[in-house]
This record gives sequence, structure tokens and C-alpha cells, in this order.
Amino acid sequence: PEYQAFSHQIIKWYRENPRDLPWRNSSDPYKIWLSEIILQQTRVAQGLPYYYAFTQAYPTVKDLALAPESEVLRLWQGLGYYSRARNLHFCAKFIWHELEGKFPTRYDELIKLKGVGSYTAAAISSFAFGEVKAVVDGNVFRVLARYFGIETDIASSKGKKEFETLANELIPADTPGEFNQAMMDFGARLCTPKNPDCTNCPIKSSCFAFQHQLVGSLPVKINK
Ligand code: ADE
Repeated sequence: PEYQAFSHQIIKWYRENPRDLPWRNSSDPYKIWLSEIILQQTRVAQGLPYYYAFTQAYPTVKDLALAPESEVLRLWQGLGYYSRARNLHFCAKFIWHELEGKFPTRYDELIKLKGVGSYTAAAISSFAFGEVKAVVDGNVFRVLARYFGIETDIASSKGKKEFETLANELIPADTPGEFNQAMMDFGARLCTPKNPDCTNCPIKSSCFAFQHQLVGSLPVKINK
């Protein structure tokens, strides 16, 4: 019951505070994958021009697969972490040559792709295919730790599992992609690490951290 209220409110906030991001207008797993790889370790504002450049140069996975590596790396210039670009190219060739050009559709297959971890696999499978898999990252840890008052160390494997389990209990079966996008945006724009915008938060009245003046101390991260 309280779980449902949380998910409902998060999605409601997301619908009322939309960000027009180009990959959100697409259900093409290739384009969603491109966007998620670009956004690993890169902010949206910095990643946007790269997303446009790549989708223009390579509108399909075939185009990327058949491109020379030097050109792919040149387009990547300025983003850093070049292994991401090499993995992109490697996966495109793999999908084109080994998977008959068919982009994998399930979380369990997506996560086998080089450079695709649980976060990216959950993002692609939920956004493109409506699979009910929660994205879990620092944003999600923070929002859940504060709202539900969870003090488990997010750096521990116990903590990571606890938050992952909770996120997968919260994600609605009918709108999993929207919930995941909402969590990403809520954590990035409202429930930020520093100076969160609690004043404008639509769920502060039921947020444990807000009610107990613990916003500054959650999530708990024990430095090792
Ligand atoms: N960061 C990582 N993935 C994202 C997405 N799909 N939208 C906005 N920010 C993101």
C-alpha cells in the first residue's frame, strides 16, 4: 500500500515535470543502448551532442557495425573512457554478424553484451520492451534510503542487494520504463546528493528522512 503510493507519486511527478530527451521518444533498443552507454559517467548535457552525432552517423546497429573503428573513436572524442566506444563497436559487430542483426530483447541476454551491466540492461529492457526490471544506481539508493529511512551501508553488498530488492518490489508491472525514468530524474533533479529540493518535493510529507531531519545523513556510505 505505501509502496504503491510511492511509485504512483514518483511517476506522477515525472509526468508533470517532463524533460524532453531524444532517446525517450524512441523504443528502438539500439538507440536506447547508445544513449545509456554515452550516459555512463557522462552528464546528460554533455552527452546530448554525442547522441545526435552517433544516431545521425549510424542510424541502425548495422551502420555502426560496418563503420571503421577509427571513425567511431573519432566521433567519441571528448567523452573519455574509450573502452565504452570500443565496446559499442564490438557489440554492434557481434549483433550484426552473430545475432542476424537482431538486438537482444531480454534483460538476461542484454546483460551478456560487452559493456552492458545490470543498470544498462534494466534500462534497455524496460524502456524498449517493457520488462519489469528496476534500474539501480546511486540515484536510486539515495531516493529509497531517504524516503524509506534505510540506514544500510550502500557500499556494502548487503546494502546493494537490499536496495535492489526494494526497487524491484516498487516497480509497477504496467509502466516499468516510466518508473525507471522517473527514478533517474527524481534523483538527478530533486532528490540530489547536496541541497536536495525538499521544498518542491511532492512526497516530503511521507519521506522518512525529511520528517526526521535525516536528509543530510542518508544514504549511509561507509568509506572503506
Ligand atoms: N542517465 C542514465 N540514463 C539516463 C536516462 N535514460 N535519462 C536521463 N539520464 C540518464
